[in-house]
Amino acid sequence: MTDADSHADRPTTPQRDLRVHPSILSADFTDLAAEVRRISTADAVHVDVMDNHFVPNLTLGLPVVERLAQVSALPLDCHLMVEAPDRWAPEYAEAGAQGVTFHAEAAAAPVRLARELRRLGARAGVALNPATPVEPWFDLLGEVDMVLVMTVEPGFGGQSFLDVTLPKIRRLRAAISAAHLQVAVQVDGGVSAATVGRAAEAGADVFVAGSAVYGQEDAAAAVDDLRARARAALDGTSGG
Ligand code: DX5
Ligand code: ZN
Repeated sequence: MTDADSHADRPTTPQRDLRVHPSILSADFTDLAAEVRRISTADAVHVDVMDNHFVPNLTLGLPVVERLAQVSALPLDCHLMVEAPDRWAPEYAEAGAQGVTFHAEAAAAPVRLARELRRLGARAGVALNPATPVEPWFDLLGEVDMVLVMTVEPGFGGQSFLDVTLPKIRRLRAAISAAHLQVAVQVDGGVSAATVGRAAEAGADVFVAGSAVYGQEDAAAAVDDLRARARAALDGTSGG
């Protein structure tokens, strides 16, 4: 009996595509091109833009993203923790980001903004802080390509994963399935070898990890390890 035969009685649920997006917030900001090359096994680079208003931290902005887009072999997934994303987010799409995620708490006209990002050729994402409910988005899921469920309070890397967000991830995944939509569920904050399985099992399929990747000597191997652990957690449940 081949290995494939032995799995023939498994339910034929389609395998969910699992992606790992390392956050360069934990990288060496003086050598970002090299830091991107360290994560060659990743599916995209997660770029945390913080404006010191929406969150109490300041990172990088448009000029850095424009240059990164030129030198990175991986697509850029920009997470905008900024006030007035209606004003700023389209410029990140124009700068070459493959995905642009704005915060629900900050957007004045999120549907208009998501449509504008898509019109500019980017994947549109909406991010929800831990205390922000997902239910108001259930009727709007067709307007976005991704929902980012923050699994820490945004602003800093290296915080602990908040398990209180898991029920929200479950409800979001159920709503996406019920609507037969292809919307990615991203988790961001405290994702590590110890927590990635819980997030996957709850319904996440895009995993942002800063310290858990860049804190390792072999960052590319850490990316593969996170993806494998997420897959193993899913294989242990009823399907992908
Ligand atoms: C936090 C940022 C995250 C952060 C994650 O506000 O949005 O992307 O870099 O870092 P870790 O994985 O270390 O929690
Ligand atoms: Zn982020």
